[in-house]
Amino acid sequence: MEKNTKKQIQKETNEKIKAPIVEALQTAYENPTYQFHIPGHTKGKAIFKDFKTLIGSKVLNIDTTDEFDNLGTLHPATGPIKEAQELAAEAFGAKKTFFLLNGSTAGNLAVAMAYTKKGQKVIVNRNCHRSILTGLIISGAEPVWVCPNRIDDWSIWGNIEASKIEEMLKKDKDISLVWITNPTYEGVVSDIKSISAVCKKYGVPLIVDEAHGCLWNFNKHLPETALKLGADAVVHSLHKTGGSMSQTSMLHISKDSCLDEVSVEKALKLLHSTSPSLLLLASLDAARANLQSQAGKKLLQSAINNAKYLRKRLDNIPNLHQIKADFGYKTDVTKVFIKIDGLSGKRLESILEIDFKIEVESASDIGVLILCNLGNKRSDFVYLADALEKIASTHYHDVYYLEKRKHMPMLEPQIKMSLRDAFYADKERIKKEDAVGRISAEVVAECPPGISILLPGELITKEHLPYLNDYETLEVVSKKEIA
Ligand SMILES: Cc1ncc(COP(=O)(O)O)c(C=O)c1O
Repeated sequence: MEKNTKKQIQKETNEKIKAPIVEALQTAYENPTYQFHIPGHTKGKAIFKDFKTLIGSKVLNIDTTDEFDNLGTLHPATGPIKEAQELAAEAFGAKKTFFLLNGSTAGNLAVAMAYTKKGQKVIVNRNCHRSILTGLIISGAEPVWVCPNRIDDWSIWGNIEASKIEEMLKKDKDISLVWITNPTYEGVVSDIKSISAVCKKYGVPLIVDEAHGCLWNFNKHLPETALKLGADAVVHSLHKTGGSMSQTSMLHISKDSCLDEVSVEKALKLLHSTSPSLLLLASLDAARANLQSQAGKKLLQSAINNAKYLRKRLDNIPNLHQIKADFGYKTDVTKVFIKIDGLSGKRLESILEIDFKIEVESASDIGVLILCNLGNKRSDFVYLADALEKIASTHYHDVYYLEKRKHMPMLEPQIKMSLRDAFYADKERIKKEDAVGRISAEVVAECPPGISILLPGELITKEHLPYLNDYETLEVVSKKEIA
């Protein structure tokens, strides 16, 4: 056996990855105390029986909050929680990492509260997640919208050009921050290195909402994380693809960040529950440990290999199309957005679900988004590709197909009032058809992907109506506010 291979195997078998919160919970479990504190179900002793049977008594036994059983605190971070955040910072290549409950939503709100203020202008991409809008409504900062390139055939926004950001910064010296989403929900990647160079040239911080890119630092076949490309702060939804439990995310401050860490920590303290779930925090600790372990690295490599396998199979289905990296922008290989001629995405989604028991990440009128996850096996992809082959060669009826596809313009917002003013204005709720020509007072966004159709302050036009099939009424700014 080669010397190096021997060493490698030894390293794998001796591998001990630290996971301080997981270890502290284990210790607490093994050393039970008489509990006279919250949570009142007291280690699952007072809980609905069927629920306990469903989720298991061990989960309830370790369902606790910070401060008890030597588990440390979240704000300020102490004990195992502090240690776990430090290990995460090291693993993701950050100076400082904050664990987030309430998802990347909490991270975006904290960023807005910490680094923007009333009246301040912030460049934001039109397809940002609604949590960024919420953050700006809270802080009162004004978004200056940058529209990414359009990928019209797929009816989605694509990458953001650094030259566009530069033009905007050159034109408006009052812009004091750039806040970009990368990758897009469908996996299209922007050139963050160039965008960061532009931001540095104009002396403005760059925040990257990398909610869908938390795996990138753990495999060289994935795009490079913004933490290495000059962003000042980055948000990651570990629960989306990183293997932690729902609602858990991380906010990182980069090594060379020009932003202070104290103000964002203060904002998080305001936003977070004062009873953070140790179970959720442990799942973040565990996800990071897993990604660093040999087993986790293998799982990620398999996910990438599976994505390549799936893409190859799909390439051989004549009337099926997939978004690829060779269309002039980069993509994340693990996010596979497909469409089939003659079928809307929604119809394809329901065929997959009803006829094949396959659930995809999401569907639009155009196509469906498939995530190649760490937890999927090769056999899952064989089954999925077989199913898609069958569907593509069957004549399924889809009455909505033609009609819907005609109506997929991507709208550049016509802003008539500031985001915050419109949100807090006197409002009325009126029929959707009567709302054309009025100013929206609400964020209208379908989830997923949580990208807004209408923003507070945006003029409602007849082009919006095809997007609003699920809405009968809309909240608009009352006329007396505008008079
Ligand atoms: C780009 C982006 N940012 C932020 C979020 C919010 O993430 P979370 O669900 O973790 O709160 C989402 C959610 O879909 C998202 O797509």
